[in-house]
Amino acid sequence: MGGVLPLRFLTCGSVDDGKSTLIGRLLSETGQVFDDHLKALTIDSRRYGTNGAVVDYSLLLDGLETEREQRITIDVAWRHFSTPRRAFLVADTPGHEQYTRNMATGASGCDVAVILVDAEKGVLPQTRRHTTICALMGIRKIVLAVNKIDLVVFGQDGFERIVREYHAFAGGFSDLDVTCIPLSALYGDNIATRSPRMAWFAGPTLLDYLESVEVQVDLAVRPFRFPVQWVNRPNGSFRGISGTIMSGTIAVGDEVRIALSGQTTRVKQIVGPDGGVASAAAGEAATLVLAADLEVGRGNLVTAVREPATVADQFAAHVIWFSHDPLLPERAYLMRIGTKWVSATITTVKHKLSTATREQLAARTLHVNDIGFCTLATSAPVAFDAYSGNRDTGSFILVDRVTHETLAAGMIAYALRRATNVHFEPLAIDKSARAATKAQTPRVLWFTGLSGAGKSTIARALEASLHRLGRHTMMLDGDNIRLGLNKDLGFTDVDRVENIRRVGEVAKLMTDAGLIVICAFISPFRAERQMVRRLFAPGEFVEIFVDTPLEECVRRDPKGLYGKAAAGLIPNFTGLGSPYERPEAPDLTVTTVGCPLDSIVTAILTACSCT
Ligand code: ADX
Repeated sequence: MGGVLPLRFLTCGSVDDGKSTLIGRLLSETGQVFDDHLKALTIDSRRYGTNGAVVDYSLLLDGLETEREQRITIDVAWRHFSTPRRAFLVADTPGHEQYTRNMATGASGCDVAVILVDAEKGVLPQTRRHTTICALMGIRKIVLAVNKIDLVVFGQDGFERIVREYHAFAGGFSDLDVTCIPLSALYGDNIATRSPRMAWFAGPTLLDYLESVEVQVDLAVRPFRFPVQWVNRPNGSFRGISGTIMSGTIAVGDEVRIALSGQTTRVKQIVGPDGGVASAAAGEAATLVLAADLEVGRGNLVTAVREPATVADQFAAHVIWFSHDPLLPERAYLMRIGTKWVSATITTVKHKLSTATREQLAARTLHVNDIGFCTLATSAPVAFDAYSGNRDTGSFILVDRVTHETLAAGMIAYALRRATNVHFEPLAIDKSARAATKAQTPRVLWFTGLSGAGKSTIARALEASLHRLGRHTMMLDGDNIRLGLNKDLGFTDVDRVENIRRVGEVAKLMTDAGLIVICAFISPFRAERQMVRRLFAPGEFVEIFVDTPLEECVRRDPKGLYGKAAAGLIPNFTGLGSPYERPEAPDLTVTTVGCPLDSIVTAILTACSCT
């Protein structure tokens, strides 16, 4: 099926570089524009175009049908055209604001990039940026389209200077195959026909190049990869696993491996959209019936036995950060990798990549449009390939748990072996046995609220009451923990995330010890409070919101910190320079204005059934 697959390419450049004109010209010269459309266009161009009587091909784009497809996760509009020699899909990735995101998304599905430069301006920082992003997204064939060559009177010297400059940069990427073509999208020189005005140029026209460039578009020859979408069990006698074949081929009788368990079996039967088939290939939907009744659910990956995928819960990857909220290392995001959703954190940003110079820059976080090389950890093992080997099974996206915004896309470089030989050691005595010796139910009573809200005061009184009742408790208080375990942490968002992560883990160890753990932390972010909640069984974690208005906290100012913050001495003080995200559904809300302390404590004791 490889022969009929269209060549996917994208064009990189701004409107000023002539990107739309180039695509319009290509579509028109390959006969994609009907004559009457062209006539209308000539009239439109006279009226609206910027080049007098010359047809403005950029006006074509808005009127054409687009074909939509998903690769990473964001829609890319694909324009289809064909010549007798080949079919093409050109990615239309408009938009200036989400520029890196759109380009990366388009490039992730393409085999060739046409990078436009203006013959008068030459190689610009954006040319380097386009090249870096395309190379990172796995594109190996680059056309440097030196456009507007008419403006430099079709001169060879200027073209060759640009070519030298570009090669000096692109040569830094080990396996890029670069072809430079002087052309004029506006006048059609070297687009579909050789320009008589550049006899000095011996290379191909753009269309020649696109028609003949060899790329491995044939996914069918790659190792077999089948992400399981769902288990198809229409009745008791049939059980198949359904999905779309990402790469490779599969035939009845082939041996396959279930990536996450490592088990192997044979394919007994393949059902395609129209019934039973002997084999199926990349791009086709199929239901596989396996010889053995193995545990294979959604999110698993079925692979060729001899060419297995990697399975790990820690790996290194390039991450393109899309969100306007910066990356918070250690925050639990949702990761979609293949058909699997898992909880994932970026544990470390190793470095940030300068797209203009390819330099590795020191960074602790990533901001919108940044590209970083990071290490990640997932809550469960995932199956994948290196992105360089398979763009579909080697990429993932990160999604915000609360807003569901797509935050980032990632390309996996390699698995980290660090924790792969560490296994949970079952213990002889468990939490309930330990708690039974104290005749109590372990709990975490988690106080959240502004500084000065009254968290520590209430927590202290609550612990005293529980102690009088004979309960074995432990109190973890923000200030105290920051003097010991967390003395390496400050008050940036990144550090606050790590503060709460560590406290959550400590609280978990203490509930495992059978204790009632009282925690008093501002814990300003919903995501981390939720993350801590997920560490516990339902009902075990009780979120208590101490809802004291900011004005009242400022008035109380027990430690004089609001005063200092107002004077500009504490720049990121919660409530002033740093946000506090109110709980949306706390287990309990207490107000402190006009409420005596004992009645608050009694209310908590009753509500939490700790007595
Ligand atoms: S959290 O935001 O990471 O949850 P935590 O509860 O551990 O904060 O610590 C908060 C305490 O640190 C406050 O009660 C206050 O005494 C002190 N503190 C010092 N600087 C700040 C700041 N910039 N923002 C908030 N609290 C601060």
